[in-house]
Formats: sequence, structure tokens, C-alpha cells
Amino acid sequence: MDAELLLAHVLGVSRTALLTMDDLPDDAAARFTVLLGQRADRVPLQHLTGRAPFRHLELAVGPGVFVPRPETEQLAGWALERLTGLRAPVVVDLGSGSGALALAIAQEHPGARVTAVERDPVAIEWTRTNAAGSTVEVLAGDMTDGGLLRDLDGAVDVVVSNPPYVPLGAGLPQEVAEHDPPLALWGGPDGLDVVRGLLDTAARLLRPGGWLGVEHADQQGVALPALVRAHGSWTDVEDHPDLAGRPRYTTACRR
Ligand SMILES: C[S@@+](CC[C@H](N)C(=O)[O-])C[C@H]1O[C@@H](n2cnc3c(N)ncnc32)[C@H](O)[C@@H]1O
Repeated sequence: MDAELLLAHVLGVSRTALLTMDDLPDDAAARFTVLLGQRADRVPLQHLTGRAPFRHLELAVGPGVFVPRPETEQLAGWALERLTGLRAPVVVDLGSGSGALALAIAQEHPGARVTAVERDPVAIEWTRTNAAGSTVEVLAGDMTDGGLLRDLDGAVDVVVSNPPYVPLGAGLPQEVAEHDPPLALWGGPDGLDVVRGLLDTAARLLRPGGWLGVEHADQQGVALPALVRAHGSWTDVEDHPDLAGRPRYTTACRR
């Protein structure tokens, strides 16, 4: 499939259009061969095409930014359900990377006031590129900072985050280990270091009755809900599986 997608990329056509093509110009064949070699060396497909699909979006991605994953699309869908019926809700995406969650929510709930927060100075350039021309506001900041977005204290309807959550020492596929930025991946000994600070920030920002949704690793489907319950600021703490049935994100309502 990756070979087909790379060939379609080289020819500037859709993957299905390849079925009706029976000629390959020499220059396209040469470019295709180079890309195949890079993919065989485990450069991510999305870095080679420069694009990553996310719900109804196609985001620009490349070195220095986390490639958005299909499983995160469900977290965006959950957040959009929470916004149903709200005319101009306030939404914050903590650790926005390519802007995937923030931009999908803004696109699918026009009227939402969405802020995308990103700490990494390289990644935020991709956030800005993707957010150009949208209504999403991009803010350089640390999601664990007690002074972040003080003007929104108690005013936010939904906080979403796909934070760094990989436990130190975990094995990763070469594509991830060598091409996703370290700041997007590693979350301390149990993977939940950044999440601990994120819970304080989200509790401060959300209005009573506002909702938090946080993605997590397969192995954190018990630990993260337990951490949220122990925090004391939340009710209705629930964990959700992804489409493959693996524990994927935790949601909670602000008391
Ligand atoms: C797993 S990536 C998720 C990116 C994007 N939200 C997505 O779902 O594709 C985590 C992102 O959080 C950013 N990040 C890590 N620690 C952060 C912090 N303390 N404050 C703000 N952003 C942070 C990383 O740079 C990275 O872009």
C-alpha cells in the first residue's frame, strides 16, 4: 500500500487512478525509486509525501513534528459530541503538534473558539503552517505551566490532549524512534509525567461541567483513569477503546 501511495504521490494522482494507468515516465520512475528506498529505510510515509490525513483534513507534516495517527481521530469525534448544541464553545488543545485535534474541531464545529498550545519551537512552526487561514489561535506554551492561558480560567468547555505518554525505555518502531520528535513521545518513568501537570491545567481552565479528553498508551487504560480519579477535580471518569479495541483515551467531567 505504501508503494502505491508513493507512486500516486509522484504522479500527482489518487491511488485508485493508478489502476487505469499503464505508462510510467522515466523521471517519475526515478523519483519513485528514490522514495521507495527511503521508505525501505523506514522513513515514515507521511514524511515522504509531506501530508497526513486526519478526519476531513490533510495536514502538512515533516521532520520536527509528530505525525498524527488515525486513532486520535476518535478523540476529536468525542470532543465534537461534547460540543453539540453549544454555539460558540471555548476549546483548548494541549500539545497540538501538527494542529490535528484543534483544526479538526474548528473545522467541524464552526463557531468554536479553539486555542492550540505547543511547547516545541520546531513543532509549533508546523502548527502555524497548518492553522494559517483557519480560526485556530496558536500559542507557544507549556501545558504544565500554572500561568498558561490565565484569561481562560474557568471558561473552557472542552480540553483535549494527546500528550507525550511513552514510558521511558519502551521499545518503539524505527519510524517513530527516529522521526517523531522526542518531546512528543517520552513521558517519564511511567509515561504519565506530563499528564500529571496537564490535569492541574485542565482543572483550572475548565468550567464546572466542562470536559477533558486525554489520549494514552495501550498499557495506561487503568493507570490514567485512576490518576484522574485520585486528582479529586473530576467526575464521570471513563476510559474508551480505539477501533482496534485497545484502551486509548480517558475522559472526565470537571466537578
Ligand atoms: C503525541 S504529540 C501529539 C500532537 C497532536 N496533538 C496529535 O495528536 O497528533 C504531543 C505534542 O505535545 C507537545 N508537548 C510535549 N510536552 C509539552 C508541554 N509540556 N507543553 C506543551 N506541549 C507539549 C509535543 O511537542 C508534541 O507536539
